[in-house]
Amino acid sequence: MNFNIVLLGPPGCGKGTQAKMLTAKYQIPQISTGDILREAVKNKTPMGIKAKAFMDSGKLVTDDVVVGIIQDRLKEPDCESGFILDGFPRTVVQAEALDRTLEEAGKKIEHAISIEVDDAELMGRLTGRRTCRSCGAMYHVMFNAPQKEGICDACGGELYQRDDDQEATIRNRLEVYQQQTAPVIGYYRKKNILRPIKGTGGIEDILKSIEDVLQRKE
Ligand code: AP5
Ligand code: MG
Ligand code: ZN
Repeated sequence: MNFNIVLLGPPGCGKGTQAKMLTAKYQIPQISTGDILREAVKNKTPMGIKAKAFMDSGKLVTDDVVVGIIQDRLKEPDCESGFILDGFPRTVVQAEALDRTLEEAGKKIEHAISIEVDDAELMGRLTGRRTCRSCGAMYHVMFNAPQKEGICDACGGELYQRDDDQEATIRNRLEVYQQQTAPVIGYYRKKNILRPIKGTGGIEDILKSIEDVLQRKE
């Protein structure tokens, strides 16, 4: 299958969870600007040092930085047969830059999947999220608990809580989403490629709804 996909939606809606399953199923890479930035923060690269303050306060990193990340990443050979953008674009400026970049390569986004979840549920999901330090697998202390507390089922790695998953920071992230990212939904709606998906219920059921959208002939 060859899909160029954007996963949209507020913090905690399940972009990462669904992207990982789609990657396994369709053999196309998950490109998460959040993951790439966290890796840069961990390695204390110049970009990571600059990005850290924005991320810790729940603000967006500047458009030029993330557009640069994506332009480099999309040149990698594994993107030839499709990709899943997770957490990018997050502003209309980023969406426009993405379209220009793809156009130059003779490509375009085919589906902008918007995963819809209420704010009340998002807070609970994010405060309970745990991530594996070694393989990146995601858990939730209540909704998707590992068999052994603090240990990854998949690889035995240590589970940690993200720095920006504190209640006050989550509130900022939700506000930033409404102000800066929600307009991106309208951007894709106008292009007739917006695919809204109900993001509540079982993780497998949501995956099934996304797959139905991808299989549908337009
Ligand atoms: P980023 O890493 O992208 O974070 P985010 O958008 O806030 O989204 P999350 O990763 O928190 O949530 P998710 O939708 O992936 O949900 P998940 O699957 O983990 O960005 C972090 C920061 O980096 C930003 O604040 C910004 O500073 C910077 N940044 C990144 N990209 C940028 C850009 N393009 N421009 C500028 N700055 C950028 O699920 C959450 C939890 O819910 C998990 O515990 C999971 O197990 C659970 N869960 C999942 N599905 C379900 C379900 N169906 N039912 C119950 N629980 C579920
Ligand atoms: Mg994520
Ligand atoms: Zn793991």
